[in-house]
Amino acid sequence: EKYPTPHDLARPHPPPNIWDCKVGPSCCMAVPSSRRIKGTPFVANLSEPMRTRMSIQTAFQDPSYVRKLTEAYRLMKMLDKEDPDDPRGMEQQRRVHCAYCSLGRSYGQSYEIHGNWFFLPWHRMFLYFHERILGEMISYPSFAIPFWNWDDDAGRRFPRAYSRSPSSPLYNPARNTDPCSMKRLVADATTTRMLRSIVLEASTQDLFFGQPLTALRTRQAGLIETGSHNAVHSAVGRQAFPFNDMGNVDWAGRDPIFYSHHANIDRLWSVWLRLPPGPSGPRRNPTHEAWLRSRFFFYDENAQLRTISPADVQNVEDLRYRYEEVPIRWLLQGE
Ligand code: C2O
Repeated sequence: EKYPTPHDLARPHPPPNIWDCKVGPSCCMAVPSSRRIKGTPFVANLSEPMRTRMSIQTAFQDPSYVRKLTEAYRLMKMLDKEDPDDPRGMEQQRRVHCAYCSLGRSYGQSYEIHGNWFFLPWHRMFLYFHERILGEMISYPSFAIPFWNWDDDAGRRFPRAYSRSPSSPLYNPARNTDPCSMKRLVADATTTRMLRSIVLEASTQDLFFGQPLTALRTRQAGLIETGSHNAVHSAVGRQAFPFNDMGNVDWAGRDPIFYSHHANIDRLWSVWLRLPPGPSGPRRNPTHEAWLRSRFFFYDENAQLRTISPADVQNVEDLRYRYEEVPIRWLLQGE
């Protein structure tokens, strides 16, 4: 397959050449044993049971859920030690994220998925496989990740269960260690004004998703990304140099809260689609072929290489999950 050059990004691009990763292994995806493995395309399977992603505060009322989540991350982190090459380990999961968001250091700038219209679908894909791998770790196929609904007062504080004990697999040492500063920064990142401007008022595709991937210097990120998404990352990340983990895209995937943070971003995409039309018409997903048909590599719960495209992840029901309905108070509040 031909790989697009930065001047030729208007057509769908094939999955990256993961065999030719330009940086050290710490920012590359694992490669399969043979170059003949091309990745099995994703196919929706509507007979699979539905998973329900619940808000952290609902999910954590159930001690058996907390046990499952904790155990799944414990096993995922243990896999790093037992078989560092297994793409399902936590460190390998972090590398997948790093590889696609290293400003093109890994596979060329056509495979940078931040700051352009691939941000939302790419993270949806990443969470989809990550969630299935967690389920596989605990042999509980309908396992669903929880979402951190920082867009509501009920969820605005950093989830205690993720910070309770340094020995918990949900804990991460490289975070903002000052609870007051974290609380203030999360509150600043999620004001009603901010949420309305990045979701409700970002009524066009360009504003919400960001613009097509072109040369990096001209790309434009969507407001959902540059708004609360980035600000919550920095609020949680370490506040001093080096800004690992949530504060640095290379390392963010190492913190379990990353996946719950992104589940909320993913949920807000579904919320956005249901909002009334904006001044320039109904809210829709991009329909350009270059967006719909570009393909990305991931590893699934059986450690098999898969390909998946934004066209595959339009409808979360096809992916067999839904979100718990929670109040969206910022929508009703004006200034
Ligand atoms: Cu790929 Cu929140 O970052």
